[in-house]
Amino acid sequence: MGFNEEIHRRRTFAIISHPDAGKTTLTEKFLLFGGAIQVAGAVKSNKIRKTATSDFMEIEKQRGISVATSVMAFDYHNMKVNLLDTPGHKDFAEDTYRTLTAVDSVILVVDAVKGVEEQTEKLMGVCRMRNTPVIVFVNKMDREGGNPFDLLDELEKKLNIKVRPLSWPISNGARFKGVYNIYEKNLQLFRPNKTTIEDEKVVIRDLNDSVLDKQIGEFAGQLREDMELINGVYDPFTPEKYLEGSVAPVFFGSALNNFGVKELLDCFVEISPSPRGRMSDTRMVEPEEPKFSGFVFKIHANLDPRHRDRIAFLRIVSGKFERNKFYHHVRIDKDFRFANPVNFMAQDKNLIEEAYPGDVVGLYDTGNFKIGDTLTEGENFMYKGIPSFSPEIFKELINTDPLKTKQLEKGVQQLTDEGVAQLFVQQPGNKKIIGTVGELQFEVIQYRLLQEYGASCRFAALPLHKACWMTFSDPKFFDEFTRFRSQRVAFDKDENPVYLAETAWALNDAIVKNPGIEFHFTSDFKLN
Ligand code: G4P
Repeated sequence: MGFNEEIHRRRTFAIISHPDAGKTTLTEKFLLFGGAIQVAGAVKSNKIRKTATSDFMEIEKQRGISVATSVMAFDYHNMKVNLLDTPGHKDFAEDTYRTLTAVDSVILVVDAVKGVEEQTEKLMGVCRMRNTPVIVFVNKMDREGGNPFDLLDELEKKLNIKVRPLSWPISNGARFKGVYNIYEKNLQLFRPNKTTIEDEKVVIRDLNDSVLDKQIGEFAGQLREDMELINGVYDPFTPEKYLEGSVAPVFFGSALNNFGVKELLDCFVEISPSPRGRMSDTRMVEPEEPKFSGFVFKIHANLDPRHRDRIAFLRIVSGKFERNKFYHHVRIDKDFRFANPVNFMAQDKNLIEEAYPGDVVGLYDTGNFKIGDTLTEGENFMYKGIPSFSPEIFKELINTDPLKTKQLEKGVQQLTDEGVAQLFVQQPGNKKIIGTVGELQFEVIQYRLLQEYGASCRFAALPLHKACWMTFSDPKFFDEFTRFRSQRVAFDKDENPVYLAETAWALNDAIVKNPGIEFHFTSDFKLN
C-alpha cells in the first residue's frame, strides 16, 4: 500500500463522555466489531470510584489499565482505526484535554436519561476551541428518558454546536422499538440483550409505505410526524459542515445492548476525517509531507519503581516513522533513535518497524521528554499543543525528609513533566506550589514521590483563587507590580511570571491597576 493510501485509511479519534454515560461499553463494542477482542468484558473501565480516593492500589491499578488501553488500534472495513483512551475521572481532565490534541475527531457519548452533564460541557468546550469534528451518540435508549427533541435542544444550547439527527428513536425505555436510520433510510428493530453482531434491518425508502405500520404498529404515525418535523427544522446533513466542526450528527442507541453501535461505527469510518495537519510555531505541517514529525501528548511512568523509564506517547503528524532511525528532539537540540518503539492493540504492546501519520507510537524514555515535545527529521519547529489551564486547587509542597531533598526535586520535576500537576516556584526560599484541577492529584503525587523517588512530603492548603500568567511590553511594569505584590508572584517551570491571586476581587483589582500587564488564564500565550 502506498504512503498516501496508508494515511487516508487512518481514523484517529477519542470517545468522550461524562463518567457512567457508557464510554467503556461503547469502546468494547467497537473493539468487538474490529476483531481486536473476542469477548465482552475484556476492556476494564478506567474509572476511579469516588470511594477509592485513599486507596492507592486503586490508583496504581488505574495507571496499569490506562497504559494498556491508552491507544486501541483495530482494522475495520479496511480502515485503520486508532481509538485514544481518555481518563474517566474528572480530576484527570487535563490528561483528556491533552489527548484531544492528538485526535482528528471525537465521538461524544451522552446518557439519554441524564442529558448533557457538566464534564461533557467542558470537554466539548475544548473540541470547539480546535474545531474538532464531533459525532454524538445518545446512549441508554432502553431506559425511560425524555423527549428526543428536547435533548437535541439541550445539546445545541449547552454544547454550543448545531446538531443534526442521522438516526431517530422510536419511543424509549420499556417501549423502545428501535431506530430509523435517516442516513441509510432503514429501520432497525430493537431486541434487548442482542449479543450477536449481525444486523437486522428493514429498508424503508418511503415512510408512507405500509411496511412501516406492519413493523412498528401504533408507533408509525409518531415516527412520520417526527420525521416531518426533523426535515423542517434541521438542514440536510452535509459532511463538510461536520468536518469543519460546525454541525454534529447525532445517533441514538444502546451500547449495552449493542444496538445502533454498528451504524455509528459504519458512519464514523465513512465521514470522519483522515489524519489532519497540525500548526507548528513556524508553519502548517501536512500529513503527506515526506519528512517525519510528531509531538508528545502524554507521558506514562513505568509501573515498576525499579525501572525509572517511562513511555512517551507520540502522535505522528507527517511522514513515516521508522525504528532505529535518528530523529531530532527540537527542544533540547539532540538526535535520538528508538530501538523499541511500540504500538498498542487492545491489551497488547507490539514492537513496530514503522508507523504513519495518525498513528500513536510509544517511545521508551529515560527522562528526555516533556509533554508537548516535538520530534522532526531535522527541521526546527515545535507543535502547538493544548495549553495548561489555570489550576483550581493550590497547595504548598513541604519536604518532610531533608535527607531526600535531591530525590524530591527530581521527582517533582519529572511528575510535572508528565503533566500530573503544575509547579510554581516562589522566591526567596524556593517555595514550591503545586496547582491541580482535582484533589486526587495530590494523593498521586505524594504516593508516587515516596514509591518511585523515596521522598516524603506533605501539603499545606493555600487559599488561592487562580494563577494567571503575566506578559508585559516593558519590565518596569512587572517591577512595579512586584513592589506591591511580591508575596503573590511565582514562576512556572519555564520561568514565566505568574500572579497567584487570592480572590476574584484581588485579581480584578490587579487587572484594573496594572494596564501595562496582560493577564492570561491559559498558558497558550507562550505559543504565540
Ligand atoms: P463510562 O465508561 O462512560 O463511565 O460508562 P460505562 O461504559 O462503564 O457504563 C456505565 C454503566 O452504564 C454500566 O453499568 C453499564 O453497564 C451501563 N450502560 C452502558 N450502556 C448502557 C445502555 O445502553 N443501557 C443501559 N441500561 N445501561 C448501560 P454499571 O452497573 O455501572 O457497571 P457494570 O457493573 O454493568 O459494569
